[in-house]
This record gives sequence, structure tokens and C-alpha cells, in this order.
Amino acid sequence: MLKLDGIEAGYGAVQVLRGLTLSVAAGEVLCLMGRNGAGKSTALKTIMGQVRASAGTIELDGTRIDGLPAHEVPRYGIGYVPQGRRLFGDLTVAENIEVGLMTRGRGARVRDHVLDLFPRLRERMGQMSRTLSGGEQQMLAIARALCLEPKVLLLDEPTEGLQPSMIALIRDTVVALKKTGVATVLVEQRVDAALSVADRIAFMVGGSVAETVQVGDLTSGAPQFISYVGV
Ligand SMILES: Nc1ncnc2c1ncn2[C@@H]1O[C@H](COP(=O)(O)OP(=O)(O)O)[C@@H](O)[C@H]1O
Ligand SMILES: [Mg+2]
Repeated sequence: MLKLDGIEAGYGAVQVLRGLTLSVAAGEVLCLMGRNGAGKSTALKTIMGQVRASAGTIELDGTRIDGLPAHEVPRYGIGYVPQGRRLFGDLTVAENIEVGLMTRGRGARVRDHVLDLFPRLRERMGQMSRTLSGGEQQMLAIARALCLEPKVLLLDEPTEGLQPSMIALIRDTVVALKKTGVATVLVEQRVDAALSVADRIAFMVGGSVAETVQVGDLTSGAPQFISYVGV
């Protein structure tokens, strides 16, 4: 589904990604783990065309998408929830949802389906999104991404700072999407959360993947978590 091969990227003269290679298949959840500064967020921004790759390739279903302007990438069916959920705060919940729907020309059917996943948003359609709680804002950010009917979903630390009930809801959503064949790349710092939802975990160090492990082969005390994540 989504394949990165030998990606080099960074900010100006600062190189962050160094030969990043990874792939995620339909119906698979790939967790990206690694210490702060390892390049996890930069990896997702590069997939989205927000950071330009200076070398390497990114393919979606065999089509090169590196080099596309950033506004084109979501139209190919890649939903993205950035770290710290960047919503349009001056828009209402309904307007944020509408922005998501317009990206790929989706309509009422998709909107209803997405709101069924997050009934609390339905009760708050007229509310300004900046006045939502942190958990509700994260729900809205995910809902907006799902309005694309994405083939690939990129989630950057979606559970950061949220209470357990909200974390469980996001986890259930990822599991439900997986069953519909969505390929998910999930950046996650918490070992238990990663183990409960991922099929594979790619451990990033210094802008590339040091090791990829099938979750079935891992336990929470595995040495990889200590050496690559520090927990
Ligand atoms: N906008 C930016 N400009 C310059 N350097 C950045 C920017 N964003 C991130 N970096 C640097 O890139 C490196 C990787 O950051 P990031 O991808 O956010 O890591 P992670 O998400 O794994 O914590 C860090 O050294 C960080 O300081
Ligand atoms: Mg990050």
C-alpha cells in the first residue's frame, strides 16, 4: 500500500531522515516508535509532502507520490492527524468536517458514517472547535481525516495527554478501521498502547529504522523498548 524507500529529508541544512525505509499494507497497523527527535513526525510530514525528500521514493499502490505538492497528497487518500492536532480553531465542528469531506468530494453518507464513530461530535456540530476539550479536539482531527475515506491513515501521537476513556476510543477506532482495510501508521510512545493495536513496530533511531518487529514476538519488557524508546 504505502512504501518509503531510502528517504532523505530535513529542514534546510539539517538532515533528519537518513535512508528511511518502511512499508505498511492494507489492513495493517505499523507503529513507529523511538526517542524524541528520532524523526517520527518528520517521517509523516515527508509522506504528506510538507517536508521535501531530497532522495528516495514514496509510493502509494505503486504510484510515486513524493514530489506532489502538499495539498495534493490528501486527495490520493492519505489522511493525516498531526501531532498536537492542528484544527481550524475558528471553524465550527461542522465546518471542520466539511473541510475533510471536500478534500475528496465526499458527502452525507461519509459524514454520517464518521459521526456514528464519534457521536459526541454530532452533539457539538455548531460549536467552535477551539472550545472543545482536548479529547474532543483529537476526535475531530481524526474524524476530519476519516472524511477522506482514506486508504492510509497517519496518526502522530494521537493519545498524547488524553484521559483513559478517550485513549480507549481512539484505539477502538484504529482497530475498526483496520478491519475495513485501512493501512495505518501510528506514532505512539506508550508501549502498552503500541502492543495492543500494532501488527508491527518499527523502531526509529537517528532518522532511519533500526529494527522492525512483529508484535506477536514482543512483550512489554522486550529489550527493544528499553534501547530504542527508553522505557
Ligand atoms: N520545523 C523544524 N525546523 C528545524 N528542525 C526541526 C523542525 N521540526 C523538527 N526539527 C528537528 O528534526 C529532528 C526530528 O524531529 P521530529 O521529527 O519532530 O522527531 P520526533 O517526532 O521523533 O520526536 C529534531 O532534531 C528536531 O529538532
Ligand atoms: Mg514527534
